[in-house]
Amino acid sequence: MSVTGPRIEVMHGVNLDQLGRRDPAHYGGLGLAELEMEIATAAADLGLVTSFFQTNHEGAFVEHLHDLTVDGVLLNPGAWTHYSYAIRDALELTGLPAVEVHLSAVSEREAFRQVSVIAELCCGTVSGKGPDGYREALSLLKEALPA
Ligand code: DQA
Repeated sequence: MSVTGPRIEVMHGVNLDQLGRRDPAHYGGLGLAELEMEIATAAADLGLVTSFFQTNHEGAFVEHLHDLTVDGVLLNPGAWTHYSYAIRDALELTGLPAVEVHLSAVSEREAFRQVSVIAELCCGTVSGKGPDGYREALSLLKEALPA
């Protein structure tokens, strides 16, 4: 059976490969592979096809954005969210519908986490809902895709 539907790139940034080792009070107990399986299942329920990317290297994240050939992007850049104008500019270059997602409630944490340099380029932001937030983010992204 061939898989069809709008293609969504799910991009995880710095330190997200360490999920499962990070503070479960903020990030829950799932590892990245388990989280990505949940995301892929949620996406399939919505008729979306996902591919995944994670790196701890900012330039690699930027270059992956440059090379995207998908219909939309769901991104959790981790700490880069709060200060990387390079990622912001590369996201703008994609011209793609994008939704920002964070496992933790960034708006209730340290002041530096309350800033997002990508938010204005995104059609939605979901935070503080753990893995379920990705399901909500996928729904928002689906609504933003051209008909
Ligand atoms: C995060 C929040 C960021 O502030 C943090 O640096 C992360 C993960 C989240 O998913 O809650 O690495 O993006």
